[in-house]
Amino acid sequence: MKKYSLSFLLLIFGISISAQKSIDQKVTELLSKMTLEEKAGQLVQYSGFEYATGPQNSNSKKVLEEIKSGKVGSMLNVTGAEETKAFQKLALESRMKIPMIFGQDVIHGFRTTFPINLGQAASWDLEMIEKSERIAAIEASAYGIQWTFAPMVDIARDPRWGRVMEGSGEDTYLGTKIGLARIKGFQGKGLGNIDAIMATAKHFAAYGAAVGGRDYNSVDMSLRQLHETYLPPFKAASEAGVATFMNSFNDINGVPATANKYILRDLLKDQWKFQGFVVSDWGSIGEMIKHGYAKDNAEAGEKAILAGSDMDMESNIYMEQLPKLVKEGKVDIKFVDDAVRRILIKKFELGLFDDPYKFSNSERQKQQTNNLEHRKFGREFGAKSVVLLKNEKKLLPLSKSTKTVALIGPFGKEAVAMHGFWSVPFKDDAQRIVTQFDGIKNQLDKNSTLLYAKGCNENDDNKSMFAEAIETAKKADVVIMTLGEGHAMSGEAKSRSNLHFSGVQEELLKEIAKTGKPIVLMINAGRPLVFDWAADNIPTIVYSWWLGTEAGNSIADVIFGNVNPGGKLPMTFPRTEGQIPIYYNHYNTGRPAGKSTDRNYVSAYIDLDNDPKFPFGFGLSYTDFKYSNFNLSSDNLKGNQTLTINVNVANTGKFDGEEVVQLYIRDLFGKVVRPIKELKGFQKIFLKKGENRNVTFKLTPEDLKFYDDTLNYDWEAGEFEIMVGTNSNDLMTKKIVWEK
Ligand code: BGC
Repeated sequence: MKKYSLSFLLLIFGISISAQKSIDQKVTELLSKMTLEEKAGQLVQYSGFEYATGPQNSNSKKVLEEIKSGKVGSMLNVTGAEETKAFQKLALESRMKIPMIFGQDVIHGFRTTFPINLGQAASWDLEMIEKSERIAAIEASAYGIQWTFAPMVDIARDPRWGRVMEGSGEDTYLGTKIGLARIKGFQGKGLGNIDAIMATAKHFAAYGAAVGGRDYNSVDMSLRQLHETYLPPFKAASEAGVATFMNSFNDINGVPATANKYILRDLLKDQWKFQGFVVSDWGSIGEMIKHGYAKDNAEAGEKAILAGSDMDMESNIYMEQLPKLVKEGKVDIKFVDDAVRRILIKKFELGLFDDPYKFSNSERQKQQTNNLEHRKFGREFGAKSVVLLKNEKKLLPLSKSTKTVALIGPFGKEAVAMHGFWSVPFKDDAQRIVTQFDGIKNQLDKNSTLLYAKGCNENDDNKSMFAEAIETAKKADVVIMTLGEGHAMSGEAKSRSNLHFSGVQEELLKEIAKTGKPIVLMINAGRPLVFDWAADNIPTIVYSWWLGTEAGNSIADVIFGNVNPGGKLPMTFPRTEGQIPIYYNHYNTGRPAGKSTDRNYVSAYIDLDNDPKFPFGFGLSYTDFKYSNFNLSSDNLKGNQTLTINVNVANTGKFDGEEVVQLYIRDLFGKVVRPIKELKGFQKIFLKKGENRNVTFKLTPEDLKFYDDTLNYDWEAGEFEIMVGTNSNDLMTKKIVWEK
């Protein structure tokens, strides 16, 4: 590490303290000049949906007047340098001339979209994930955006929940690492830089645990579980300096998250010392009335501000109610001041007071409209997110000179769908996206032919297009089928009770299989689907999510072997919906099923094997990896020692390839029961064919800590299993004792 002199460090430290101090002073000054109404105004966020093309085209004058009179602190869904500028001008007509912040759901890319977030998580590639958010920030900030409502760091163990597509899956460790990579990517070198945007840790908290996987539903769980599984990514985000948090829609143990003082004020703001501000979710302050937690707008506003929600997204309650509540003595002005202060600090940090139009630069926007470097990265990232589930007959990779290939299925020529849910719509989307058909066609040799038949629409209940598809398949040497669920069948408010391919797609697959032609089954989906028939009967299956702008090129790179797939599942794939919720790091029960087929008075279903269809962390490669020489530095440790774990991984197959080496532990006996395994480390390594490498992990007592039933966070002496391998089900195990 470079050495700096003490005086140099003091100078740098001193400068940053004085910069911070001056922001604090400026905010204090501003606050002292603001009326109560102007303060409430800073806490208001409006959507610009109906003003998407700029204020001049709006037919509602009310919002424009409110902006001009300082009653709006932020807008979302206004995109574009000119558009944001026009709105900002209105804000600067207000008495205090406080600029607005423009927010947007930049969830998996912006002009260049990347795989849906769950697909990105399957890459287990933290560097690429960070880079994708860096790119998203560069593009979004060039379009006038300073704030993204991402990352979603909700842990989710229920694929019925449509928003699993937006997160990093079921595991707390992986989800935390990915969340941090995303925040780093968005916020770049720090707010104030022209290409850094504020990130949002959302949805606080436990939104992913909605009962039954039904969106917006209640969450009822022990505080221990909340702290152990759902809160760590949020805590880490706060520590990493994420600029904002967003409430979740659900109640937690009976108290809506939006007015949950325990999580917002006691944990986030007091214990974790979070420095940013909290925005409500869309209308979530007002929704507390329907929850049955507030009888009217006044009570909803009062409860939300007292609990610690700082900005009101689209409930229109803070402006209407807060001045009154303060005057009536129901809300102490210090709560309003604290919320305004937090928001103003961010506006200063972003540099908006120095130049309110700094993000509204048409020249920059033009440069980022079709950034080819970003697209190139998107193509690579897409391929890295693909998970190879089966390749029994080594059909993949296909030869580019395969004479006749048929592409069959509802998604083959889809363009906009390749974005997946949550993309900012642009008029030219259909022209910019590489379809799966085009991607495959572009890579096939000139003398080869790519045939196409849709076979059915994603939600058809009739088979009128089957005959054509069967005829097309018969003409081909290889059939690539693209099946799954529609791109808008996952995402917000897209819970499903039936996770099979939608419509008649499975029947189509069975009909095509009858032709006897070799099939590559590509599955497009935003969540783990249930495809038991296909998984048992089709030897070649690739899980390809929604891969974004470059989808077709990415998938073709995998199919033809330019890229050897190395993705690993970030969620457990169930056999049927009846197994849900199913996740790898469960407790053992007093009657665990020894084998997956055990049914007799053990914790199992009488009509179903106990194990999942594909386990967490699973994914194949075109090459083979062999694990050996698994050894530990000691099997008896004491106190603060470090355990070193070594394993050799060899590429014994015929292709260069990447492997995600995974480390799990089990704490065998504890004062509360511990999961049967917990991910504690992973490394993604690239090995040329014939190459091998020693992979090393380290564990310290810090990695053994857990929350007990009094929320005490510590580790216990005792026996542990250390497990290393290629997925959560295929592991080598050694036992150790760790004493205090
Ligand atoms: C979603 C948030 C999103 C917000 C703004 C809400 O419906 O739950 O995740 O950021 O809308 O679009």
